[in-house]
Amino acid sequence: MNGKIRADFPILKHIIYMDSAATSLTPEPVLEAVSRYYREYNANVGRGVHRLAQIATQRYKEAHRKVAGFIGAREGEVIFTKNTTEAINMVAYGLKWTKGDEVVTTTLEHHSNFLPWLKLKERGIILKIVKPSRSGIFDPADFEDAIGAKTRLVAVTHISNVLGTISPIKEIAAICKEKGALFLVDGAQSVPHINIDVEELGCDFFAFSGHKMLGPTGTGVLWIKHSEEIEPCFFGGGMIDSVSEDDYILADNYERFEAGTPNIAGGIGLGRAVDYLNGVGMDRIMAHESRLTAKLLEGLSEIENLHVYGSTNLSERIGVISFNINGLNPHDVALMLDEASNIMVRSGHHCCMPLMNYLGLDGTVRVSLYLYNTEEEVDKLLETVEDIAKVV
Ligand code: ALA
Repeated sequence: MNGKIRADFPILKHIIYMDSAATSLTPEPVLEAVSRYYREYNANVGRGVHRLAQIATQRYKEAHRKVAGFIGAREGEVIFTKNTTEAINMVAYGLKWTKGDEVVTTTLEHHSNFLPWLKLKERGIILKIVKPSRSGIFDPADFEDAIGAKTRLVAVTHISNVLGTISPIKEIAAICKEKGALFLVDGAQSVPHINIDVEELGCDFFAFSGHKMLGPTGTGVLWIKHSEEIEPCFFGGGMIDSVSEDDYILADNYERFEAGTPNIAGGIGLGRAVDYLNGVGMDRIMAHESRLTAKLLEGLSEIENLHVYGSTNLSERIGVISFNINGLNPHDVALMLDEASNIMVRSGHHCCMPLMNYLGLDGTVRVSLYLYNTEEEVDKLLETVEDIAKVV
């Protein structure tokens, strides 16, 4: 990736940022789009007829169109939420459940795609959990076994936020279709890094976050194939066609799920982030990250006292890499990386306690790469990790 991209992230002059799976950095054009809304056409959307309201509404709708296009969806099918967690909860609370319905999920899930289903147990829903191999790879046959006549919904992460491994979404979608189950995919770690076409994936719901793909925090997305599948969870302004004292008619498409004033600046910023990613090119981003991931995995494999988790096969994973140094607490390693070389990584359980229990770990050190990282930064990380591992 060229210096032009680096220049759009001035914060990189001072640090090495390798925590993009938690939240990505925000490029200048996205910051400009957000501040331009507040400075130049600050108004509510979908309500007023004055000039500013019209400009804001048009830009907000444009952002919806851009985001829909980015994941191969049609206009009106994507709902802006505050994050992936909210998007998934909207499905958990919006579906009409019957006692005895089953939900199939996995041990690999982030808490945001686990707790909403665990919570449904209180309403008589039965939770079934599919386990991947210890390196994070699923056997589709295990979904074939777990999904039955009573399965209402299957909820699986597209890419693990701990191991970086890619789930066999199309195969699972085919099983869901055959057995009549709905399928929700958590795309929080996939949309920022690989090409996505929700129609091709074959799911019914697809949730992701804007802030992990260069957008502002407080932005997320839920795509629903058939919007009548779920009821809105929130009621209020902006989501109806008409209201009487006794009844209401919901607005069409995404608007029925966005009650109240939305995060207008955030949504517009997310649209600009999509333009930015498209401008660089997702194929180019994927190739760049794949090169860095190969280098990083190779380098880590040569360091003694260090264990890498997850598949090392590049076709099964992206640049989210978890490891531990024998005898060292992951938080201590993260602090040492920061102190010694200004490298920011995440450490701990990564909101994946069921996976940590399954792997018998308290936590890991997690490096997560993005388009702005460089080979030199990977070299610096490897050098520093090697120094830390030598001291043990
Ligand atoms: N989901 C984010 C992470 O894994 C917060 O770090």
